[in-house]
Amino acid sequence: MLFDDVVHRKVEVMKAIRFARHGEPSEVLEVEDVPVPEPGEGQVRLRILATPVNPSDLLYVRGFYAGVQARFPAPVGFEGVGIVDVLGPGVKDFTSGQRVSVVNGQGGNWAEYAVVPATDLFPVPDEIPDEQVASFVINPASAILMVRRVLAVPKGEWLLQSAAGSELGRMVIRMAKCDGVRTVNVVRRRESVAELEALGADAVIVSTEGPIDEQVREIVGSEGVKYAIDPVVGETGTQMFKALHEDGRMLVYGSLTGEPIRVGEDPRYILAGRRTLEVYWLGYWLPRLTDAERRQLREDIVTLMREGIIETSPGRKYSLDDIGEAVAQAEQKGRQGKVFLVPGK
Ligand SMILES: NC(=O)c1ccc[n+]([C@@H]2O[C@H](COP(=O)([O-])OP(=O)(O)OC[C@H]3O[C@@H](n4cnc5c(N)ncnc54)[C@H](OP(=O)(O)O)[C@@H]3O)[C@@H](O)[C@H]2O)c1
Repeated sequence: MLFDDVVHRKVEVMKAIRFARHGEPSEVLEVEDVPVPEPGEGQVRLRILATPVNPSDLLYVRGFYAGVQARFPAPVGFEGVGIVDVLGPGVKDFTSGQRVSVVNGQGGNWAEYAVVPATDLFPVPDEIPDEQVASFVINPASAILMVRRVLAVPKGEWLLQSAAGSELGRMVIRMAKCDGVRTVNVVRRRESVAELEALGADAVIVSTEGPIDEQVREIVGSEGVKYAIDPVVGETGTQMFKALHEDGRMLVYGSLTGEPIRVGEDPRYILAGRRTLEVYWLGYWLPRLTDAERRQLREDIVTLMREGIIETSPGRKYSLDDIGEAVAQAEQKGRQGKVFLVPGK
């Protein structure tokens, strides 16, 4: 597609989703025609095949994603799968036409084309389907890093997690099963229970059916749980902290309610023991991995994907023009599968 710019030079344009101020995604996101970006030194231009609507994208649009500062008009979309289109000067490790997974640290994958540093690309074997490659890094890497590296949950221990029906939560259930870790899973709807048990959850509790800490202690024993991960915060996170063993560690890795955790609400949990509340953010951990650790993480994701342990269930697919519907669907209670934007649709 071609259009005239202000100096009447013919430039290629593409559709891209952008926002000019923070706010509700359905209100502030616009589909715009913008010039197709050119890759600079060490960069690659990709033709985006599919890009998920992740909770982090929506937090970013709302202005709550502290790790990345928006510069308006701001592009959106941190993850996706694309085809290498043009290599910038100095890029040697990729070839035009190659399919790759891309984590776009500054946002910009919700577009027909994106330019990113070559270091942000992950080559993925051909037999892994596009939908898995589109969600290859953010949830899979976080499930692995939180459980196996940051908490390093030992075999036989219990791991407590909230939002267990999320795509990431399901990965954790299947991976824990394979690692010999037992999971207690918190959901907000009873309908999720049977589904998660079928995936291998050892226990599933419903947050609205009684205090979480009491329900957890009935399952794991009165001393509480040593390992927990929570993206919900608010009342759920507050009650999960009370379910911790005196040596317990809880990683907070999201803010699905946007509400505070009240750690000191009950002084019994902060005046004895050494419970720890810790933040987990992939944007902190990924750049701290050595090249060898990063390669190993990629191999682990590929292996777990081949075994069906790390898997994203694909949900509805939308064109960029239907961005309003897509973001509404992504936050629908009880939504089935990950929502994808398909720029060529
Ligand atoms: N810190 C990091 O680096 C990092 C990396 C990856 C992911 N994350 C976080 O991981 C979480 C899951 O991501 P995902 O892509 O797997 O999400 P997802 O597939 O969109 O699932 C979201 C889940 O959260 C539940 N949920 C939504 N709002 C809730 C609320 N107010 N109270 C309780 N439960 C709620 C939903 O429950 P229903 O099924 O009942 O609708 C759903 O199961 C997100 O918070 C995301 O930001 C963080």
